[in-house]
Amino acid sequence: MIDKFDRIKLGHFPTPIEYLNNITEHLNGPQIYIKRDDCTGLATGGNKTRKLEFLMPDAIKNQADLVVTVGAVQSNHTRQTAAACAKLGLKCLIVLEQRLKDAPNAYMTSGNVFLDKLFGAEIVLCPSGKDVKEYAEEIMAERKNDGANPYYIPVGGSNHIGTLGYIECMREIIEDDKDNSFTHIVLASGSGGTHAGSIAGKIYYKSNIEIVGISVKDKKHDQEEKVFKLAKEGCEYIQCDEPKREDILVFDDYVGGGYGVPTNGMNEAVKLMATKEAILLDPVYSGKGFAGLIDLIQNKYFRDTDKILFIHTGGAASLHAYEWAF
Ligand SMILES: Cc1ncc(COP(=O)(O)O)c(C=O)c1O
Repeated sequence: MIDKFDRIKLGHFPTPIEYLNNITEHLNGPQIYIKRDDCTGLATGGNKTRKLEFLMPDAIKNQADLVVTVGAVQSNHTRQTAAACAKLGLKCLIVLEQRLKDAPNAYMTSGNVFLDKLFGAEIVLCPSGKDVKEYAEEIMAERKNDGANPYYIPVGGSNHIGTLGYIECMREIIEDDKDNSFTHIVLASGSGGTHAGSIAGKIYYKSNIEIVGISVKDKKHDQEEKVFKLAKEGCEYIQCDEPKREDILVFDDYVGGGYGVPTNGMNEAVKLMATKEAILLDPVYSGKGFAGLIDLIQNKYFRDTDKILFIHTGGAASLHAYEWAF
């Protein structure tokens, strides 16, 4: 079904699913598995590779010569977009938004920012107080006047095309999980495309897995509404049944001081995953997502007989930019 949509191979798929033996023992609760989407291969990996495999062909179909996208300063999405553009011979312009107050120098220059530049992207910092999407549109209009044909990828690659990436991920999970034994998927929910695509995939492949989103920015209601809208668009795009509102579940208790602001729970989750499983989480998304999972286990949200799949959406490229937070 997904095969009918244009796709360009950018990553290594299917990504492996591994059992987190040491952490499962340590937490003494349900079994925890991890889907290694941090190992998608493109430019240190991450969830955006899946979306870009469907978004980049659309840029090419539109005869774009410049891909424009937006993100926070330490955006993993912009890093993977810059890498995809490098591989496909397209120019890339990134508009970065400063969401973290009083960010140290390393945050502004290291990690993903350094890699964006290494992949040859042009970087523009959005002036404070200005809407980043509007600012990107102004720049695109200027570039059009200069003869370019820009293609816009929304924040996080989250639109109906981007959701295809996680519909495909659900196919991989269901194919891997032959005895249908996973009860829950837990993932970090940001711009919403990963969560929404997983919901659409769940519907399309008729799975009963409960999908739990851990918000990294927005309040529960807003995040659920955003994911619901995107999931509806995704389902419409692949022509399957619509999601129900009650299918969308988000916890917003792990955001802490705001998007990208370190929390104790994130800090502990990143350290636990590193010291027990030798896997690198990131401070903004997968670290807070896993912190949410740990807390939900400790608060008995799950039964001990449940089998949980945490989707590791990547992001460790930002760790050096966050050394100060540890
Ligand atoms: C590492 C990582 N995990 C999770 C997410 C959240 O995914 P989404 O924006 O599709 O909700 C992002 C988004 O940038 C990310 O970079």
